[in-house]
Amino acid sequence: MFRPIALAAAAALALAPLAAGAAGETGHVEDIDFSFEGMFGTYDKAQLQRGTQVYVEVCASCHGMKFVPFRSLTEPGGPEFTEEQVKELASTFTVWDPTLFDGEGDFRPASFNDNFPENNLAVPPAPDLSVMAKARAGFHGPYGTGLNQLFKGMGGPEYIYSMLIGFTGEDMEMAGSFFYENTAFPGGWISMAPQLFDDRVIYDDGTPATEEQMAEDVSAFLMWAAEPKMMQRKQMGITAMLFLSVFAVLLYLTNKRLWMPVKHREGDG
Ligand code: HEC
Repeated sequence: MFRPIALAAAAALALAPLAAGAAGETGHVEDIDFSFEGMFGTYDKAQLQRGTQVYVEVCASCHGMKFVPFRSLTEPGGPEFTEEQVKELASTFTVWDPTLFDGEGDFRPASFNDNFPENNLAVPPAPDLSVMAKARAGFHGPYGTGLNQLFKGMGGPEYIYSMLIGFTGEDMEMAGSFFYENTAFPGGWISMAPQLFDDRVIYDDGTPATEEQMAEDVSAFLMWAAEPKMMQRKQMGITAMLFLSVFAVLLYLTNKRLWMPVKHREGDG
């Protein structure tokens, strides 16, 4: 009879250190009101265009994005560049083509139908950014309940934003590698050097390129890269909810109607 309670207590005891541990390891993550948050949120096209620019001009020298096709940059709901713009952008990247040079393979400029290339040349190695915004969570807890994620979202883009602007300026060398102190990176020391400083890029749309602006734009862009169909998914959800509410009303009325003769039978009171 007391077993469920005992079990629950044991589980709570077992989880407590885990939750505390998780809270201790993660760094500081800002909560940002991205345009794509909430039930009706959508990507901000101008922001995604600026984010593309930051990725291409700053991040791509170390990070690949091998699951993202160039042509998706023209699709509705994304940065919506023109086909001409994307062809030009693609041609600034090189991809490895195994069919060239009599089957031995060779590099060639990327085309509209290629994906962004992978980048395995960076030293130290830098992870592919295709799905990074979904591979990281910015918010945890409290105490392992996940409530923060319910209210603030998973926080992938917020984590990337906070990491990009979270450098303290301290660095250290350990066994020949450099590490940079970072307030968002779990553990506090990351092997990526600080990348953003004011006016690191000159935005095509004239937006002042502050460090925070670039961090926010590229984080939004990486969210889009990881989930280009987020808007369609939300729309389907909303349609489904509308359908279900209409269906619920119909069911209720049908139910009343079906039981009416039974409930109002004479002599039943
Ligand atoms: C000079 C090379 C270089 C550039 C340029 C660079 N990065 Fe990195 N990045 C790295 C390396 C190396 C790591 C691996 C860090 C580690 O695990 O300690 C990394 C890791 C990351 C991570 C993963 C952090 C984690 O939680 O594991 C993200 C996100 C990231 N970079 C985003 C970016 C963005 C966005 C840009 C462009 C604004 C960028 N990086 C530019 C080298 C670079």
